[in-house]
Amino acid sequence: MKPAMSSLSPRVLLIDTDTASDDAVALIMALRSPQVKVLAITVVAGNVPVEQATRNALYTVELCGSDVPVYAGASQPLTRPLEAATWFHGQDGLGDHGFAPTGRTAEALHAVDAIIATARANPGLEIVTLGPLTNLALAIEQDPGIVADISRCVVMGGAPCCEGNVTPAAEFNIWVDPEAAQTVMQSGLPIELVGWQLSRYDAVVQEQDIAKILAHNTPLADFAIRCNSRAREAYFEQTGEVGLSLPDPIAMALLLDPSLALEASEHRILIETQSELTRGMTVVDKLDVTGDERNAANWQHTKQARIIWELDVSGWKNLLFKSLQ
Ligand code: RIB
Ligand code: CA
Repeated sequence: MKPAMSSLSPRVLLIDTDTASDDAVALIMALRSPQVKVLAITVVAGNVPVEQATRNALYTVELCGSDVPVYAGASQPLTRPLEAATWFHGQDGLGDHGFAPTGRTAEALHAVDAIIATARANPGLEIVTLGPLTNLALAIEQDPGIVADISRCVVMGGAPCCEGNVTPAAEFNIWVDPEAAQTVMQSGLPIELVGWQLSRYDAVVQEQDIAKILAHNTPLADFAIRCNSRAREAYFEQTGEVGLSLPDPIAMALLLDPSLALEASEHRILIETQSELTRGMTVVDKLDVTGDERNAANWQHTKQARIIWELDVSGWKNLLFKSLQ
């Protein structure tokens, strides 16, 4: 089933992000896209503390010449202390090259209130989440009615039926705040899950791809590669794979162009919140061994998610190249 998208009114988008180096490239893709109008960028603690993530988002929107409002949000997960990922992205989240906003500041409104207000004012709103789900979970708890106003919710997160990047069982965005992820997955939102595995192997941006991007010779292209300098090293340390893995831009590509999902199916997603061994695991019954009707293709679109299993890699990379011209 293709995600429901209104073909009548222009597509409007809210991005929730823990802005570090891959998030920044995803922000550029959305801000440069003719497909959507970005109404708001809400920031959450994750890769780096929320103050730093907010500065990184402000720097990125400035670089794009955008006036999209940026809202700072949750400074830590719902019930747990923040476990950042500065080892992967650099202390400032952007490879420690000194990228800093020159003038833009965040709005006074809290990100959670901004999510609620934007959804209420824009029925049919599409949301893409690029970090822990703390802001979105708080918004749903505060105003459950927003679920009906959101037409798509593309979530970068999880390791469905495969290994994680923080523990053998879990991916970072879900692991950091599993309680928030559980709230979001149970909310009835039309979730499209973009797991970490989609950003590996042939989806990794290789040396020849990086050369192609840098050949654009634009400030955006230079920033996109330079801010990910640490992430390239860290990815090799983590997986042994050479190149630049960009999970958030892949989630953004699937938000912008759903046809890039070559294989997908709908399943209930359960999140492990009790066990430290499997904390943050996204449990997907792909074979329906539990016989749960919510794994059925014809199950009405509530309380389960559309899991993307295969990505159109060349389509993803072409969209990335185009965004950085
Ligand atoms: O596991 C990858 C995800 O965690 C990406 O969103 C990255 O930015 C980090 O937030
Ligand atoms: Ca992120």
